[in-house]
Amino acid sequence: MKFILKVLSAVRDFVWRATTNPVSTIGVALATLASISFLAIVAFELAGVPIGHYVGIVSYLILPAIFLLGLALIPIGLRLQRMQEQKTGQPRRFAVLDFNNPRVRSVALLVLVLTVVNLMIVSTATFKGVEVMDSTQFCGDTCHTVMAPEFTTYQRSPHSRVKCTECHIGSGANWFVKSKLSGSWQLVSVALNLYPRPIPTPVENLRPARDTCEQCHWPTKFIGERLRFFNRFAEDEKQTEKKTILLMKTGGGETGRAHGIHWHVDPDLTIRYRSDKSRQKIFDIELTRGNGKPEMYKLDGATPDGAEPGWRVMDCVDCHNRPTHVYQMPKDELDAVLTSGELDKSLPFIKREGLKAIQQTYSSHADAKEGIRKALAEFYRTNSPDLLEKHADRIDRAADTLTRVYARNVFPEMRITWGTYPNFLKHEPGCFRCHDSEHKNEQGKKISKSCSLCHEVLAAEEETPEILELLHP
Ligand code: HEC
Ligand code: HEC
Ligand code: HEC
Ligand code: HEC
Ligand code: HEC
Repeated sequence: MKFILKVLSAVRDFVWRATTNPVSTIGVALATLASISFLAIVAFELAGVPIGHYVGIVSYLILPAIFLLGLALIPIGLRLQRMQEQKTGQPRRFAVLDFNNPRVRSVALLVLVLTVVNLMIVSTATFKGVEVMDSTQFCGDTCHTVMAPEFTTYQRSPHSRVKCTECHIGSGANWFVKSKLSGSWQLVSVALNLYPRPIPTPVENLRPARDTCEQCHWPTKFIGERLRFFNRFAEDEKQTEKKTILLMKTGGGETGRAHGIHWHVDPDLTIRYRSDKSRQKIFDIELTRGNGKPEMYKLDGATPDGAEPGWRVMDCVDCHNRPTHVYQMPKDELDAVLTSGELDKSLPFIKREGLKAIQQTYSSHADAKEGIRKALAEFYRTNSPDLLEKHADRIDRAADTLTRVYARNVFPEMRITWGTYPNFLKHEPGCFRCHDSEHKNEQGKKISKSCSLCHEVLAAEEETPEILELLHP
């Protein structure tokens, strides 16, 4: 009992001392308010009340910052006060801590206990704060407009269960700190509306794929060949279906013996190149096998002025630059929804008219919805009024599908339109940036563009490919 009274009086003395000047008073108030709110939120969470990620951000990032600010203000205020007192003539003196004095003992105990509690609060907050910042919600959803394109495309990709940070940060303290430093600037630029639209690509300081992609996929794993089917639809009345079938020479294999497409990422060799900023125009290519002499492939004539000064070491992202933020071109998107049945193939000329409608310029997704609906209604009103009358619902559904196709590829607020983010996993601008039969080495040998280097074309736009008859006898 006596002990508790003593502690209480120590608290009173401390508060009295710490509130004799305004700076420390504000500090005490901030620290107290922040810690009470923080403990309340933690208690709610422990009790199983679901807290959204906004509350998460407030409680684990903002409250601790206020708390620490409050704590820092207390000694600053006391120091200022002491300086003030010195000015008024009192000699400069250090406090004498006499542990025989029971009051000093209880104040010391109080400070010790408070410090332990503070450390616990700060470390829980740090741990939780990191967890919040690591979450896909935080990266993808917090700044809605800014990250909407990346988040939308990500959610449809094979990586929609991989966290943003697994590709953008990876493991290790070094990259973690780097990302938090650039992240702080990003927060400021979003808050002040300074960010570029669209967000520029390529990401210049993306962590090398060796430390990210290769944690889950590695070159020796890709062995062999893969059949790829492409369903293409003509822009005629019936959307005539044509099949293209490729045998992709995926390759890969043991270090030093890799072949095929994944030969480029054999750890035994290094390919470096110089290009323009967009990496779409590649100038000099340097290939080094094992410890061998570097072999240089160049275009005729001098390297133009637009070339970036640095060399880039080729990795996964030079071909798979869109492993998760996948934007399609209009024709490919319509082929995909016609294949899946999402777009009604029996509507006459729906591909041709759909293509026209989704390639108009709209100011927002809502505007696009309106415009696409109008365009289809207009077309069928003039060309097949019967159909519009009897099957208005089918035309409406088609307009909805086209709107969805538009909304997952075009983001007017971020000035992203068809083709803003090119995909390098195709001929142009992709493999043919180097495999163009124009890059030559000193002996005049070209980087091959032979049609069977990367794949065998088993069928090219055929209605009834022979190879399919073989596969489905
Ligand atoms: C599978 C790996 C992977 C995941 C998961 C991933 N990204 Fe990316 N991200 C990339 C690659 C690769 C690029 C493009 C690199 C390049 O072209 O330089 C990129 C580019 C970006 C860009 C620049 C704009 C662009 O499209 O080029 C932003 C912003 C971005 N990512 C945000 C996110 C967010 C937010 C998430 C989580 C919702 C996320 N990323 C998840 C691999 C990934
Ligand atoms: C945390 C693990 C992880 C990381 C990191 C990761 N991936 Fe993946 N990747 C996956 C999973 C899981 C799949 C889906 C496999 C499936 O659907 O069969 C996948 C699928 C793929 C596919 C095949 C898509 C298809 O159409 O079959 C490619 C290509 C790919 N990843 C490339 C990359 C690249 C490039 C990076 C680095 C930028 C990367 N991955 C980073 C786990 C990862
Ligand atoms: C020279 C360009 C290039 C590079 C570099 C490259 N890939 Fe690929 N990758 C391809 C192509 C092309 C395909 C085949 C796509 C298809 O089947 O249509 C492919 C297929 C894949 C697949 C799915 C096919 C399978 O058989 O599993 C994965 C996963 C993959 N790559 C991951 C990677 C990773 C990880 C790296 C980096 C270590 C990498 N790739 C480097 C071009 C490349
Ligand atoms: C940065 C330049 C560059 C890009 C981009 C590039 N390649 Fe290559 N590729 C090379 C070089 C250099 C060689 C070796 C040429 C030689 O030995 O004649 C090569 C060789 C190959 C080989 C033969 C490998 C073997 O078995 O020896 C294949 C297959 C191949 N590339 C496929 C692709 C595909 C598919 C893409 C696009 C997805 C692509 N490349 C993009 C530079 C590139
Ligand atoms: C350096 C590698 C490479 C070379 C050389 C190459 N291709 Fe391709 N080709 C690819 C890749 C990669 C794809 C895209 C696969 C995908 O979309 O996943 C592709 C796709 C195709 C397609 C399907 C296109 C579609 O989307 O319907 C056809 C057809 C094709 N190639 C024909 C050819 C012909 C003909 C040649 C010879 C002039 C050739 N290719 C040379 C790598 C190559």
